[in-house]
Amino acid sequence: MKLNGAFWPSSKTLCLAQTHHLSSPREHTLSQAVVFFEVEILDAKTKDKLCFLDKVRPLHKYYPQWYAARQSIRLDPKGKSLKDEDVLQHLPVGTTATFYFRDLGAQISWVTVFLTEYGGPLLLYLMFYFRAPFIYAPKYDFTTSKHWVVHLACMCHSFHYLKRLLETLFVHRFSHGTMPLRNIFKNCTYYWGFAAWMAYYINHPLYTPPTIYGEQQVRIALIIFLFCQVGNFSIHIALRNLRPPGSKTRKIPYPTKNPFTWIFLLVSCPNYTYELGSWFGFTLMTQCLPVAFFTAVGFIQMTVWAKGKHRSYLKEFRDYPPLRSPILPFVL
Ligand SMILES: NC(=O)c1ccc[n+]([C@@H]2O[C@H](COP(=O)([O-])OP(=O)(O)OC[C@H]3O[C@@H](n4cnc5c(N)ncnc54)[C@H](OP(=O)(O)O)[C@@H]3O)[C@@H](O)[C@H]2O)c1
Ligand SMILES: *[C@@H]1O[C@H](CO)[C@@H](O)[C@H](O)[C@H]1NC(C)=O
Ligand SMILES: *[C@@H]1O[C@H](CO)[C@@H](O)[C@H](O)[C@H]1NC(C)=O
Repeated sequence: MKLNGAFWPSSKTLCLAQTHHLSSPREHTLSQAVVFFEVEILDAKTKDKLCFLDKVRPLHKYYPQWYAARQSIRLDPKGKSLKDEDVLQHLPVGTTATFYFRDLGAQISWVTVFLTEYGGPLLLYLMFYFRAPFIYAPKYDFTTSKHWVVHLACMCHSFHYLKRLLETLFVHRFSHGTMPLRNIFKNCTYYWGFAAWMAYYINHPLYTPPTIYGEQQVRIALIIFLFCQVGNFSIHIALRNLRPPGSKTRKIPYPTKNPFTWIFLLVSCPNYTYELGSWFGFTLMTQCLPVAFFTAVGFIQMTVWAKGKHRSYLKEFRDYPPLRSPILPFVL
Protein backbone atom coordinates (compact mmCIF):
# COMPACT_ATOMS: atom_id res chain seq x y z
CA MET A 1 0.00 0.00 0.00
CA LYS A 2 1.41 3.36 -0.88
CA LEU A 3 1.08 6.64 0.83
CA ASN A 4 2.16 8.03 -2.43
CA GLY A 5 1.06 11.48 -3.28
CA ALA A 6 0.67 12.47 0.33
CA PHE A 7 3.01 15.22 1.34
CA TRP A 8 5.11 14.72 4.43
CA PRO A 9 7.24 17.73 5.06
CA SER A 10 9.95 16.26 7.22
CA SER A 11 10.69 12.92 5.74
CA LYS A 12 11.91 11.55 2.47
CA THR A 13 10.41 8.13 3.06
CA LEU A 14 6.85 9.17 3.16
CA CYS A 15 5.93 5.88 1.94
CA LEU A 16 4.17 3.36 4.03
CA ALA A 17 4.61 1.79 0.70
CA GLN A 18 7.97 0.88 1.92
CA THR A 19 5.93 -1.56 3.83
CA HIS A 20 5.05 -3.25 0.62
CA HIS A 21 7.49 -2.86 -2.29
CA LEU A 22 8.17 0.68 -1.96
CA SER A 23 9.05 3.42 -4.03
CA SER A 24 9.42 6.92 -2.88
CA PRO A 25 6.68 9.16 -4.05
CA ARG A 26 7.55 10.62 -7.34
CA GLU A 27 5.21 13.46 -7.95
CA HIS A 28 4.91 15.85 -5.12
CA THR A 29 5.67 19.25 -6.09
CA LEU A 30 5.59 21.98 -3.51
CA SER A 31 2.83 23.72 -5.36
CA GLN A 32 0.53 20.83 -4.51
CA ALA A 33 -1.91 21.45 -1.69
CA VAL A 34 -0.29 20.11 1.43
CA VAL A 35 -2.19 17.16 2.85
CA PHE A 36 -1.19 15.72 6.16
CA PHE A 37 -2.25 12.22 6.93
CA GLU A 38 -2.08 10.63 10.31
CA VAL A 39 -1.92 6.91 10.17
CA GLU A 40 -2.35 4.45 12.95
CA ILE A 41 -1.87 0.78 12.61
CA LEU A 42 -3.62 -1.65 14.95
CA ASP A 43 -3.24 -5.37 15.37
CA ALA A 44 -6.17 -6.96 13.55
CA LYS A 45 -6.76 -9.51 16.31
CA THR A 46 -6.05 -7.70 19.56
CA LYS A 47 -6.68 -4.15 18.34
CA ASP A 48 -3.49 -3.08 20.13
CA LYS A 49 -1.89 -0.03 18.68
CA LEU A 50 1.28 -1.04 16.86
CA CYS A 51 2.29 2.40 15.80
CA PHE A 52 1.12 5.88 15.11
CA LEU A 53 2.63 7.47 12.09
CA ASP A 54 2.57 11.19 11.87
CA LYS A 55 5.86 11.40 10.12
CA VAL A 56 5.32 8.37 8.07
CA ARG A 57 7.99 5.76 8.06
CA PRO A 58 7.54 2.20 6.94
CA LEU A 59 6.12 -0.18 9.50
CA HIS A 60 9.15 -2.42 9.24
CA LYS A 61 11.33 0.40 10.56
CA TYR A 62 9.50 -0.14 13.86
CA TYR A 63 9.21 -3.91 13.57
CA PRO A 64 12.12 -5.18 11.49
CA GLN A 65 10.90 -8.78 11.83
CA TRP A 66 7.83 -7.96 9.76
CA TYR A 67 9.36 -7.32 6.38
CA ALA A 68 7.17 -6.08 3.54
CA ALA A 69 6.00 -9.40 2.11
CA ARG A 70 4.80 -10.57 5.56
CA GLN A 71 2.45 -7.67 6.06
CA SER A 72 -1.22 -7.65 5.45
CA ILE A 73 -2.64 -4.15 5.87
CA ARG A 74 -6.43 -3.71 5.88
CA LEU A 75 -8.97 -1.00 6.41
CA ASP A 76 -11.25 -3.37 8.25
CA PRO A 77 -9.94 -6.02 10.67
CA LYS A 78 -11.84 -8.75 8.82
CA GLY A 79 -11.72 -7.17 5.37
CA LYS A 80 -9.48 -7.75 2.41
CA SER A 81 -5.80 -6.85 2.41
CA LEU A 82 -4.90 -3.71 0.58
CA LYS A 83 -2.94 -4.26 -2.59
CA ASP A 84 0.62 -3.14 -3.11
CA GLU A 85 -0.62 -0.69 -5.72
CA ASP A 86 -3.11 1.07 -3.42
CA VAL A 87 -2.35 4.69 -2.74
CA LEU A 88 -3.37 6.31 0.53
CA GLN A 89 -4.86 9.36 -1.13
CA HIS A 90 -7.21 7.22 -3.16
CA LEU A 91 -8.45 5.10 -0.28
CA PRO A 92 -11.77 5.88 1.39
CA VAL A 93 -10.16 7.41 4.46
CA GLY A 94 -10.08 10.90 5.86
CA THR A 95 -6.89 12.61 6.93
CA THR A 96 -6.73 10.29 9.93
CA ALA A 97 -6.52 6.75 8.74
CA THR A 98 -6.63 3.60 10.83
CA PHE A 99 -5.24 0.43 9.35
CA TYR A 100 -5.27 -3.08 10.70
CA PHE A 101 -2.23 -5.23 10.44
CA ARG A 102 -1.87 -8.95 10.24
CA ASP A 103 1.35 -10.94 10.15
CA LEU A 104 1.23 -13.39 7.24
CA GLY A 105 4.09 -15.43 8.65
CA ALA A 106 7.51 -16.14 7.19
CA GLN A 107 7.46 -15.87 3.40
CA ILE A 108 9.34 -17.66 0.68
CA SER A 109 9.47 -16.84 -3.01
CA TRP A 110 7.35 -18.79 -5.47
CA VAL A 111 10.31 -19.76 -7.54
CA THR A 112 12.03 -21.37 -4.54
CA VAL A 113 8.80 -23.15 -3.70
CA PHE A 114 8.40 -24.63 -7.12
CA LEU A 115 12.03 -25.60 -7.47
CA THR A 116 11.96 -27.60 -4.22
CA GLU A 117 8.51 -29.02 -4.86
CA TYR A 118 9.43 -30.31 -8.31
CA GLY A 119 13.15 -30.94 -7.95
CA GLY A 120 12.48 -33.41 -5.11
CA PRO A 121 10.27 -35.83 -7.09
CA LEU A 122 12.66 -35.73 -10.03
CA LEU A 123 15.67 -36.78 -7.94
CA LEU A 124 13.76 -39.20 -5.70
CA TYR A 125 12.32 -41.04 -8.65
CA LEU A 126 15.77 -41.42 -10.20
CA MET A 127 17.12 -42.85 -6.94
CA PHE A 128 14.58 -45.63 -7.15
CA TYR A 129 15.09 -46.06 -10.88
CA PHE A 130 18.83 -46.61 -10.43
CA ARG A 131 18.06 -48.81 -7.43
CA ALA A 132 20.29 -46.97 -5.03
CA PRO A 133 21.39 -49.09 -2.04
CA PHE A 134 19.09 -49.64 0.97
CA ILE A 135 15.92 -49.50 -1.12
CA TYR A 136 15.54 -53.01 -2.45
CA ALA A 137 17.51 -56.14 -1.52
CA PRO A 138 21.31 -55.61 -1.81
CA LYS A 139 21.62 -57.96 -4.79
CA TYR A 140 19.55 -55.51 -6.84
CA ASP A 141 21.72 -52.46 -6.13
CA PHE A 142 22.30 -50.49 -9.35
CA THR A 143 20.71 -53.15 -11.54
CA THR A 144 18.24 -52.21 -14.28
CA SER A 145 14.79 -53.53 -14.98
CA LYS A 146 14.25 -55.95 -17.85
CA HIS A 147 10.91 -54.33 -18.73
CA TRP A 148 11.06 -51.50 -21.24
CA VAL A 149 7.94 -49.90 -19.70
CA VAL A 150 9.98 -49.16 -16.59
CA HIS A 151 12.48 -47.17 -18.64
CA LEU A 152 9.73 -45.42 -20.55
CA ALA A 153 7.97 -44.53 -17.29
CA CYS A 154 11.19 -43.06 -15.92
CA MET A 155 11.59 -40.93 -19.04
CA CYS A 156 7.99 -39.71 -18.81
CA HIS A 157 8.23 -38.93 -15.10
CA SER A 158 11.53 -37.07 -15.49
CA PHE A 159 10.26 -35.24 -18.54
CA HIS A 160 7.19 -34.11 -16.62
CA TYR A 161 9.16 -32.61 -13.73
CA LEU A 162 11.86 -31.14 -15.94
CA LYS A 163 9.13 -29.43 -17.92
CA ARG A 164 7.62 -28.04 -14.72
CA LEU A 165 10.98 -26.77 -13.50
CA LEU A 166 11.75 -25.07 -16.79
CA GLU A 167 8.26 -23.59 -16.95
CA THR A 168 8.66 -22.17 -13.46
CA LEU A 169 11.91 -20.52 -14.46
CA PHE A 170 11.03 -19.33 -17.94
CA VAL A 171 7.27 -19.31 -18.56
CA HIS A 172 5.13 -18.45 -15.56
CA ARG A 173 4.48 -14.87 -14.59
CA PHE A 174 3.46 -14.93 -10.97
CA SER A 175 1.17 -12.32 -9.54
CA HIS A 176 2.29 -12.89 -5.95
CA GLY A 177 5.98 -12.81 -5.19
CA THR A 178 5.85 -15.02 -2.15
CA MET A 179 3.87 -17.59 -0.20
CA PRO A 180 3.88 -18.59 3.47
CA LEU A 181 6.84 -20.77 4.39
CA ARG A 182 4.69 -23.36 6.14
CA ASN A 183 2.95 -24.28 2.87
CA ILE A 184 6.18 -25.60 1.50
CA PHE A 185 6.34 -28.37 4.10
CA LYS A 186 2.82 -29.46 3.24
CA ASN A 187 3.40 -29.36 -0.52
CA CYS A 188 6.76 -31.12 -0.38
CA THR A 189 5.37 -33.90 1.79
CA TYR A 190 2.68 -34.41 -0.81
CA TYR A 191 4.84 -34.33 -3.94
CA TRP A 192 7.89 -36.06 -2.52
CA GLY A 193 5.88 -38.68 -0.67
CA PHE A 194 3.86 -39.67 -3.70
CA ALA A 195 6.88 -39.66 -6.01
CA ALA A 196 8.76 -42.01 -3.67
CA TRP A 197 5.76 -44.29 -3.22
CA MET A 198 5.09 -44.56 -6.96
CA ALA A 199 8.76 -44.96 -7.84
CA TYR A 200 9.19 -47.70 -5.24
CA TYR A 201 6.57 -49.88 -6.91
CA ILE A 202 7.28 -49.08 -10.55
CA ASN A 203 11.01 -49.75 -10.20
CA HIS A 204 10.60 -52.73 -7.90
CA PRO A 205 12.47 -55.81 -9.15
CA LEU A 206 9.22 -57.76 -8.91
CA TYR A 207 7.17 -55.20 -10.87
CA THR A 208 5.06 -56.69 -13.66
CA PRO A 209 4.19 -54.51 -16.67
CA PRO A 210 0.62 -54.23 -18.05
CA THR A 211 -0.49 -57.70 -19.02
CA ILE A 212 -4.11 -57.33 -20.12
CA TYR A 213 -3.55 -55.27 -23.25
CA GLY A 214 0.22 -55.41 -23.17
CA GLU A 215 2.23 -53.22 -25.52
CA GLN A 216 -0.84 -51.77 -27.17
CA GLN A 217 -1.92 -50.38 -23.79
CA VAL A 218 1.49 -48.84 -23.16
CA ARG A 219 1.56 -47.24 -26.59
CA ILE A 220 -1.86 -45.65 -26.21
CA ALA A 221 -0.93 -44.50 -22.71
CA LEU A 222 2.21 -42.84 -24.04
CA ILE A 223 0.21 -41.00 -26.69
CA ILE A 224 -2.28 -39.74 -24.10
CA PHE A 225 0.56 -38.70 -21.82
CA LEU A 226 2.47 -36.78 -24.48
CA PHE A 227 -0.66 -35.20 -25.93
CA CYS A 228 -1.59 -33.83 -22.51
CA GLN A 229 1.93 -32.60 -21.78
CA VAL A 230 1.89 -30.57 -24.98
CA GLY A 231 -1.65 -29.36 -24.21
CA ASN A 232 -0.66 -28.32 -20.72
CA PHE A 233 2.38 -26.46 -22.05
CA SER A 234 0.24 -24.69 -24.66
CA ILE A 235 -2.10 -23.48 -21.94
CA HIS A 236 0.79 -22.13 -19.90
CA ILE A 237 2.07 -20.22 -22.91
CA ALA A 238 -1.41 -18.83 -23.54
CA LEU A 239 -1.71 -17.72 -19.89
CA ARG A 240 1.72 -16.14 -20.02
CA ASN A 241 0.79 -14.15 -23.11
CA LEU A 242 -2.27 -12.79 -21.35
CA ARG A 243 -0.05 -11.00 -18.91
CA PRO A 244 2.42 -8.41 -20.20
CA PRO A 245 5.87 -8.65 -18.56
CA GLY A 246 5.94 -7.20 -15.07
CA SER A 247 2.21 -6.58 -14.85
CA LYS A 248 -0.40 -8.24 -12.67
CA THR A 249 -3.44 -7.89 -14.87
CA ARG A 250 -5.88 -10.75 -15.14
CA LYS A 251 -7.85 -11.38 -18.31
CA ILE A 252 -10.26 -14.00 -19.56
CA PRO A 253 -8.23 -16.61 -21.42
CA TYR A 254 -9.56 -17.45 -24.90
CA PRO A 255 -8.55 -20.06 -27.50
CA THR A 256 -5.60 -18.96 -29.60
CA LYS A 257 -4.30 -20.21 -32.96
CA ASN A 258 -2.83 -23.24 -31.22
CA PRO A 259 -5.47 -26.05 -31.40
CA PHE A 260 -4.46 -27.33 -27.95
CA THR A 261 -5.92 -24.15 -26.46
CA TRP A 262 -9.31 -24.59 -28.10
CA ILE A 263 -10.40 -26.46 -25.02
CA PHE A 264 -10.73 -23.00 -23.43
CA LEU A 265 -14.14 -22.97 -25.14
CA LEU A 266 -15.32 -25.60 -22.68
CA VAL A 267 -13.28 -25.37 -19.49
CA SER A 268 -11.87 -22.63 -17.28
CA CYS A 269 -8.73 -24.47 -16.16
CA PRO A 270 -7.60 -26.63 -19.08
CA ASN A 271 -4.11 -26.85 -17.61
CA TYR A 272 -5.63 -29.01 -14.87
CA THR A 273 -7.68 -30.99 -17.39
CA TYR A 274 -4.49 -31.80 -19.27
CA GLU A 275 -2.64 -32.59 -16.09
CA LEU A 276 -5.36 -35.04 -15.15
CA GLY A 277 -5.07 -36.59 -18.63
CA SER A 278 -1.30 -36.89 -18.26
CA TRP A 279 -1.53 -38.76 -14.99
CA PHE A 280 -4.31 -40.91 -16.35
CA GLY A 281 -1.95 -41.84 -19.20
CA PHE A 282 0.81 -42.58 -16.71
CA THR A 283 -1.54 -44.82 -14.72
CA LEU A 284 -2.51 -46.71 -17.84
CA MET A 285 1.13 -47.08 -18.82
CA THR A 286 2.39 -48.44 -15.51
CA GLN A 287 -0.81 -50.13 -14.34
CA CYS A 288 0.30 -49.46 -10.82
CA LEU A 289 -2.03 -48.83 -7.89
CA PRO A 290 -0.13 -45.99 -6.16
CA VAL A 291 -0.10 -44.12 -9.47
CA ALA A 292 -3.87 -44.49 -9.79
CA PHE A 293 -4.18 -43.23 -6.23
CA PHE A 294 -1.94 -40.20 -6.95
CA THR A 295 -4.05 -39.41 -10.02
CA ALA A 296 -7.26 -39.59 -7.99
CA VAL A 297 -5.96 -37.39 -5.17
CA GLY A 298 -4.58 -34.89 -7.68
CA PHE A 299 -7.90 -34.84 -9.47
CA ILE A 300 -9.79 -34.01 -6.28
CA GLN A 301 -7.34 -31.27 -5.35
CA MET A 302 -7.36 -29.75 -8.83
CA THR A 303 -11.14 -29.84 -8.96
CA VAL A 304 -11.23 -27.78 -5.78
CA TRP A 305 -8.78 -25.23 -7.26
CA ALA A 306 -10.54 -25.20 -10.61
CA LYS A 307 -13.91 -24.55 -9.00
CA GLY A 308 -12.47 -21.71 -6.97
CA LYS A 309 -10.80 -20.21 -10.02
CA HIS A 310 -13.96 -20.64 -12.07
CA ARG A 311 -15.99 -18.88 -9.39
CA SER A 312 -13.55 -15.99 -9.25
CA TYR A 313 -13.61 -15.65 -13.04
CA LEU A 314 -17.43 -15.48 -12.93
CA LYS A 315 -17.28 -12.86 -10.21
CA GLU A 316 -14.61 -10.76 -11.88
CA PHE A 317 -15.90 -10.80 -15.47
CA ARG A 318 -19.57 -10.22 -16.16
CA ASP A 319 -19.18 -11.37 -19.78
CA TYR A 320 -17.54 -14.66 -18.85
CA PRO A 321 -18.36 -17.40 -21.42
CA PRO A 322 -21.33 -19.31 -19.96
CA LEU A 323 -20.49 -22.63 -21.62
CA ARG A 324 -17.38 -23.24 -19.55
CA SER A 325 -17.10 -25.78 -16.74
CA PRO A 326 -14.28 -25.61 -14.19
CA ILE A 327 -12.28 -28.71 -15.18
CA LEU A 328 -14.23 -31.37 -17.11
CA PRO A 329 -16.37 -30.19 -20.05
CA PHE A 330 -20.10 -30.31 -19.21
CA VAL A 331 -19.45 -32.42 -16.11
CA LEU A 332 -17.46 -30.77 -13.36
N1 LIG B 1 -5.09 -22.68 -2.45
C1 LIG B 1 -5.54 -22.49 -3.65
O1 LIG B 1 -6.69 -22.13 -3.86
C2 LIG B 1 -4.64 -22.74 -4.81
C3 LIG B 1 -5.13 -22.61 -6.09
C4 LIG B 1 -4.27 -22.83 -7.16
C5 LIG B 1 -2.96 -23.16 -6.90
N2 LIG B 1 -2.49 -23.30 -5.63
C6 LIG B 1 -1.08 -23.59 -5.37
O2 LIG B 1 -0.35 -23.29 -6.51
C7 LIG B 1 0.46 -24.39 -6.89
C8 LIG B 1 0.49 -24.56 -8.38
O3 LIG B 1 -0.68 -24.13 -8.97
P1 LIG B 1 -0.61 -23.88 -10.46
O4 LIG B 1 0.42 -24.81 -11.04
O5 LIG B 1 -1.95 -23.90 -11.02
O6 LIG B 1 0.07 -22.43 -10.62
P2 LIG B 1 -0.45 -20.99 -10.22
O7 LIG B 1 0.48 -20.48 -9.21
O8 LIG B 1 -1.89 -20.99 -9.89
O9 LIG B 1 -0.30 -20.14 -11.60
C9 LIG B 1 0.86 -19.95 -12.42
C10 LIG B 1 0.86 -18.62 -13.13
O10 LIG B 1 -0.09 -18.42 -14.21
C11 LIG B 1 -0.77 -17.18 -14.01
N3 LIG B 1 -2.18 -17.00 -14.48
C12 LIG B 1 -3.22 -17.78 -14.18
N4 LIG B 1 -4.36 -17.33 -14.72
C13 LIG B 1 -4.06 -16.19 -15.38
C14 LIG B 1 -4.80 -15.25 -16.15
N5 LIG B 1 -6.12 -15.41 -16.34
N6 LIG B 1 -4.17 -14.17 -16.69
C15 LIG B 1 -2.86 -14.03 -16.50
N7 LIG B 1 -2.09 -14.89 -15.79
C16 LIG B 1 -2.66 -15.96 -15.22
C17 LIG B 1 -0.84 -17.16 -12.55
O11 LIG B 1 -1.18 -15.88 -12.12
P3 LIG B 1 -2.01 -15.71 -10.74
O12 LIG B 1 -0.99 -15.86 -9.67
O13 LIG B 1 -2.57 -14.34 -10.86
O14 LIG B 1 -3.08 -16.75 -10.70
C18 LIG B 1 0.54 -17.56 -12.14
O15 LIG B 1 1.43 -16.51 -12.25
C19 LIG B 1 -0.09 -25.58 -6.23
O16 LIG B 1 0.93 -26.46 -5.89
C20 LIG B 1 -0.79 -25.00 -5.03
O17 LIG B 1 0.08 -25.03 -3.94
C21 LIG B 1 -3.32 -23.06 -4.59
C1 LIG C 1 -3.88 -23.06 -14.40
O1 LIG C 1 -5.04 -22.42 -14.83
C2 LIG C 1 -5.70 -21.64 -13.88
C3 LIG C 1 -6.92 -21.04 -14.55
O2 LIG C 1 -6.62 -20.35 -15.72
C4 LIG C 1 -4.77 -20.57 -13.36
O3 LIG C 1 -5.36 -19.86 -12.32
C5 LIG C 1 -3.51 -21.19 -12.86
O4 LIG C 1 -2.63 -20.18 -12.49
C6 LIG C 1 -2.88 -22.02 -13.96
N1 LIG C 1 -1.63 -22.62 -13.52
C7 LIG C 1 -0.49 -22.35 -14.13
C8 LIG C 1 0.74 -23.02 -13.60
O5 LIG C 1 -0.42 -21.61 -15.09
C1 LIG D 1 -0.13 -28.83 -15.95
O1 LIG D 1 -0.42 -27.63 -15.33
C2 LIG D 1 -0.43 -27.64 -13.93
C3 LIG D 1 -0.92 -26.32 -13.43
O2 LIG D 1 -1.03 -25.39 -14.41
C4 LIG D 1 0.95 -28.00 -13.44
O3 LIG D 1 0.99 -27.92 -12.02
C5 LIG D 1 1.28 -29.38 -13.94
O4 LIG D 1 2.55 -29.76 -13.56
C6 LIG D 1 1.10 -29.51 -15.43
N1 LIG D 1 1.00 -30.89 -15.77
C7 LIG D 1 1.61 -31.46 -16.80
C8 LIG D 1 1.21 -32.83 -17.12
O5 LIG D 1 2.46 -30.89 -17.44
